[in-house]
Amino acid sequence: MPDLRVLNIEAGVEIKQKLVDLAFLRGLRLDELRLNGIAPHDLDIAPLLALGGLKRIAIHGADWSDDNLAAIAARFPAVQADLRQLRDCPADIGGGAVSNAAACARCCVCAGASFCGVPCAMPRACKSCWRGLMRGLRPLDKKTIKAYQMRKLHKEQTMTRTVYVNGEYLPETEAKVSIFDRGFLMADGVYEVTSVLGGKLIDFAGHAKRLERSLSELDMAAPVTMDELLVIHRELVKLNGIEEGMIYLQVTRGAPGDRDFAFPDPAETPSTIVLFTQNKPGLADNPVAKKGIKVIGIEDIRWGRRDIKTVQLLYPSMGKMMAKKAGCDDAWMIEDGKVTEGTSNNAYIVKGGKIITRELSNDILHGITRAAVLRFAKEAQMEVEERSFTIEEAQGADEAFVTSASTFVMPVVEIDGAAVGTGTPGPVAARLREIYLEESLKVAV
Ligand SMILES: Cc1ncc(COP(=O)(O)O)c(C=O)c1O
Repeated sequence: MPDLRVLNIEAGVEIKQKLVDLAFLRGLRLDELRLNGIAPHDLDIAPLLALGGLKRIAIHGADWSDDNLAAIAARFPAVQADLRQLRDCPADIGGGAVSNAAACARCCVCAGASFCGVPCAMPRACKSCWRGLMRGLRPLDKKTIKAYQMRKLHKEQTMTRTVYVNGEYLPETEAKVSIFDRGFLMADGVYEVTSVLGGKLIDFAGHAKRLERSLSELDMAAPVTMDELLVIHRELVKLNGIEEGMIYLQVTRGAPGDRDFAFPDPAETPSTIVLFTQNKPGLADNPVAKKGIKVIGIEDIRWGRRDIKTVQLLYPSMGKMMAKKAGCDDAWMIEDGKVTEGTSNNAYIVKGGKIITRELSNDILHGITRAAVLRFAKEAQMEVEERSFTIEEAQGADEAFVTSASTFVMPVVEIDGAAVGTGTPGPVAARLREIYLEESLKVAV
């Protein structure tokens, strides 16, 4: 008989039959036995305990009793430590108390991390465990699954992303900007976020035009032409294989080599340009859009040129944190009793079929999605009124929603604890989302 270092036994009808008697393993030199999704009643424990030379048993995805685990631990002292450590794993990421080694190993493996402090006992189990989850064999709570997906995505992104910095396409780990960059020191920069659907850029022309305006309002030189910008966007989409996601673009007044309040001479200090991709599979099919978001009202204390898309985003970030703290998703900012906009979106209400949103001025960002959505709404014979509204009026509206390049049209179902309309996403927002996605995809580049 050949030497066998690792035997990986997965749950399955035929295997289960074989497991009734593990005696066939006798005579093999076996270092490690991995049991995936196998419950104790599928396994006769006596022949297992009779196996010699075993250094490790990794049990995963089954409901093993303390007695069974203790018997294995007693028979295989080398294994004991593993089991005990797994049982003591402090990370309760499974959503419930870690009840046994199997559950704990599952958590550790699923999360792709060794929370218990020992190297993962079953490196191969991740896939099977994940498949198990997908089949609903032993579902983890949504938060855990999301956390896993985010970590995986982040890892994939950070491992592979190619970014653009001042004329060069580079691995993100090699991309550098000076510490004297005015974007870093003074928030002296502007940005754009363009979404990608089906590998194509949504509303690119609108974003490019607004970028030009932001730059010109701040007397900042454009580092590339808008045609070149399109080429860079497309190249990044291609290099990073983005099907659904976003492209972030930032232009700053450059790095003059020292800190000074006065603007540097643009002839001597070229502006800095940085672009990177954010891979977001499922962006268009965002499940949050079916549920809607909750917002709170906060005071708008931002500067007076919100029509310029600058990187001064500290207050909007603080607003998001205030919302989070209140158990909500976002904040609507209020000035002189009227809603200006969301922390990173434009705000709307619907009353008697009429779509109401604040008129354009220096008080709000002139959303590219806003412009497209209002155009599509008018084309669909929906009534649009551009005027400001109060939080109270919004609470009493039939519907509310926000728009932005990354969320498209997102229903708002609660404002400061009061349900809007039925407290569920309304038909106007749902229809506008549908139209926006459909129509902007048609002209995506
Ligand atoms: C303050 C603010 N308002 C509105 C928007 C929506 O603009 P757009 O539709 O162009 O993404 C954003 C987007 O970032 C924003 O930050």
